[in-house]
Amino acid sequence: MAYAAKDYSSLVGMPGFSEALLKNHFTLYQGYVANTNKLIDTLEALAKDGKGASAEYAEQKRRLGWEFDGMRLHEYYFENLGGKTPIDPDGRLARKISADFGSYENWEKDFRATGAMRGIGWAALYQDPNTGRLLNFWINEHDAGHPAGCTPILIMDVFEHAFMLDYGTKRPDYIAAFFGNINWAAAESRLK
Ligand SMILES: [Fe+2]
Repeated sequence: MAYAAKDYSSLVGMPGFSEALLKNHFTLYQGYVANTNKLIDTLEALAKDGKGASAEYAEQKRRLGWEFDGMRLHEYYFENLGGKTPIDPDGRLARKISADFGSYENWEKDFRATGAMRGIGWAALYQDPNTGRLLNFWINEHDAGHPAGCTPILIMDVFEHAFMLDYGTKRPDYIAAFFGNINWAAAESRLK
């Protein structure tokens, strides 16, 4: 059963995100979906041909984490955008953030700083289901640094393609635009 690319065109018009940037980003995301499907098919065909122990199989297998995570992280990212209202300070997520980081402001400062780190990747607010605790993580590329078994609550793309067209190298300005468009209801719905 192949993965299907989701339609995020309703995000066009978000303040601080040009149509050209978003459309390029959607195309890039669709590439991850197509490549994930292609890789899974290739791996199945190689295994069926008795080549499951080949170098070719191993090489394709290594790429699956990159493509799959590239697909899935973009889905979390686009789905936690498009919001028009700030976080409800009395809501479940805001109260949990305050409890785990001391205050909402502490968390936001740390999340922004995580996103502004040098390198390409993602800033991710994760929840550890074993303790319920929230933690900010830096995800390098798409596939390195995920905490095993944790639940993504808020995902921010900080690859250059996510902002350069609109902001050049001013990543903090893009991060500010991201914060202006967070869909807090979507993020809160992921909280356990
Ligand atoms: Fe991206």
